[in-house]
Amino acid sequence: MSAFDMKTVTLDAPTSPLNIKKTAGKVIVYLAKLAKMLLVWLMQPKNWLKKRTWIGAFILLRAAYVTMNEYGKNPFKKSLNKDHVFLTGAGSGLGRLMAIRLGKLGCKLSLSDINMAGLEETRALCKKEGVPEERIAIFVCDVSKKESILRGAQSARAAHGLVTLLINNAGIVSGKSTLELTDAMIEKTMQVNTIAHLHTIREFLPDMIQAKRGHIVTIASMAGLAGVPGLSDYCGSKYGAIGIDEAVRTELIQKGLSKFIKTSCICPYLVSTGLFEGAKKSFPFSILSPVETVDRIIAAIQQEEPLVVIPWRGNMVFLAKMLPVGFQDNFSRVIGLHN
Ligand SMILES: NC(=O)c1ccc[n+]([C@@H]2O[C@H](COP(=O)([O-])OP(=O)(O)OC[C@H]3O[C@@H](n4cnc5c(N)ncnc54)[C@H](O)[C@@H]3O)[C@@H](O)[C@H]2O)c1
Repeated sequence: MSAFDMKTVTLDAPTSPLNIKKTAGKVIVYLAKLAKMLLVWLMQPKNWLKKRTWIGAFILLRAAYVTMNEYGKNPFKKSLNKDHVFLTGAGSGLGRLMAIRLGKLGCKLSLSDINMAGLEETRALCKKEGVPEERIAIFVCDVSKKESILRGAQSARAAHGLVTLLINNAGIVSGKSTLELTDAMIEKTMQVNTIAHLHTIREFLPDMIQAKRGHIVTIASMAGLAGVPGLSDYCGSKYGAIGIDEAVRTELIQKGLSKFIKTSCICPYLVSTGLFEGAKKSFPFSILSPVETVDRIIAAIQQEEPLVVIPWRGNMVFLAKMLPVGFQDNFSRVIGLHN
């Protein structure tokens, strides 16, 4: 029986109280009326040349965007101090910083990586930041191997019980052009960046259903939204990770589990962790710091945001996708994405 077939699950009451939903409904109706009035005014030909028309149109678009963006997001920051997190790739970079932040927020930590020395350093840093030792479990887990994931899951449950927060963060990059890649590189990248996500989700989703509380976080990349030269295996693997996130999210909705099991897919631009050493930034982006990236990831988890592109202006990729492909390719070359 698959995790999704567990029909006995009774649903929790929605996170936000009923009166908040009613108020939100009223605000949406009010905004819709306002938008209609503005549209009627804008449609009058004599108004087209007025500056006010364009300011009004901008406000309208911005209000529509903000309303749509807030839809489905938890208006409050949820507390994470009841959660038990299974975090992959916690031995360095973003994983290490997330471990420290989540530990400080009261999470029970199951930290995994292939690099034990890195994990020990992460644990020492967590303790230095005041996270009690009994809340930190570390273990070697190679996410490219299913047996290793299963062993990691057993160690995590033995340490802190059911896992309610899964963060698929471990990731690798070969940085070779398609013809330079070896078979081994391609397979490893797919196993770590994509296939592992299916194994960990399948492993921990039943825990979340049993606990009636859960959150699955995918650390993807902007390279999973737009292909770039020299990263065909990486881009393919991140497109795959984003596809898995989207499909699981819709399954949770279909099975009535999305009320208490959330998903967040995070797509950062380049971050200065060393993973993409030597890569050049392109207009209009600048290289992100690990701290600002992790701040945004934690906020996304607390507010149960389904998709976050970091920085926000990276969302322009969705608009760019509506343009003819030849134009997209030239545009990305001109702004330096091909470097
Ligand atoms: N750094 C960036 O520019 C950037 C941008 C977008 C997305 N990301 C993504 O963010 C995530 C974290 O990257 P980072 O920048 O912190 O890199 P990082 O190299 O500092 O951290 C990755 C961690 O994953 C671990 N790891 C590698 N292979 C593993 C395996 N088989 N099993 C378990 N652990 C394994 C490594 O030991 C390392 O600790 C990755 O998924 C990466 O693709 C990074």
